Amino acid sequence: MKLTAFRKEYTLAGLRRRDLAENPTLQFQEWFEQAVKAEVPEPTAMSLATVNELGQPSVRTVLLKAVDERGFIFCTNYESRKGCELNGNPNAGLLFFWKELERQVFISGVTRKIPAGESDAYFKARPFGSQVAAWVSKQSSVVEHREALEKKFQEVEQEYSGQEVPLPPNWGGYVVTPDTIEFWQGRVNRLHDRFRYTKQADGLWKVERLSP
Ligand SMILES: Cc1cc2nc3c(=O)[nH]c(=O)nc-3n(C[C@H](O)[C@H](O)[C@H](O)COP(=O)(O)O)c2cc1C
Repeated sequence: MKLTAFRKEYTLAGLRRRDLAENPTLQFQEWFEQAVKAEVPEPTAMSLATVNELGQPSVRTVLLKAVDERGFIFCTNYESRKGCELNGNPNAGLLFFWKELERQVFISGVTRKIPAGESDAYFKARPFGSQVAAWVSKQSSVVEHREALEKKFQEVEQEYSGQEVPLPPNWGGYVVTPDTIEFWQGRVNRLHDRFRYTKQADGLWKVERLSP
């Protein structure tokens, strides 16, 4: 199969400096609402990039749970590969690709754990089965057989049957506080529009157009 034949022109929209909000969080929220309106599947799905102590990157999809004045929140297992990497190096990248809108948003920033009480609220919002799975899965560790996981799931499911599942100590949220946020809108002939917000020492955001 000739992969070079997969080529799409981006023609839906343009992005001008005067269209952008002064604050990138507001700009993100506007684009997010448009992604929901356009029925982008899984609009909260984002790629999370981290690096290990050797500087080797890893990336995976996680779901955005909230955006607030601190930044972008996701939940995971604190002892997973990403959790261990963030423990050693809190710098992270987040990437949304909303292809239906020909848009990409890249966020770089510093990550820290959210308070346990807040993680508990996110945990309580999960369906019972997902709460059980959070206790069962030693995320990112090697498993011999799926059966072993399913057996453990049944045990934990029985243990908490008819009860509230407590927050596992190794499960919770992180907030990525952004240093930069880049908004990308695809354009014809690969002359895309890119604007990067950079947080300055005075707390204000500098906005620059980047070459595509
Ligand atoms: C659409 C989608 C959403 C996901 N959401 C999450 C999530 O919110 N939290 C999470 O820990 N893993 C989530 N995962 C699984 C991760 O991509 C990943 O496999 C897992 O977190 C282990 O990553 P790690 O070994 O790099 O730590 C999701 C996967 C997909 C495809």
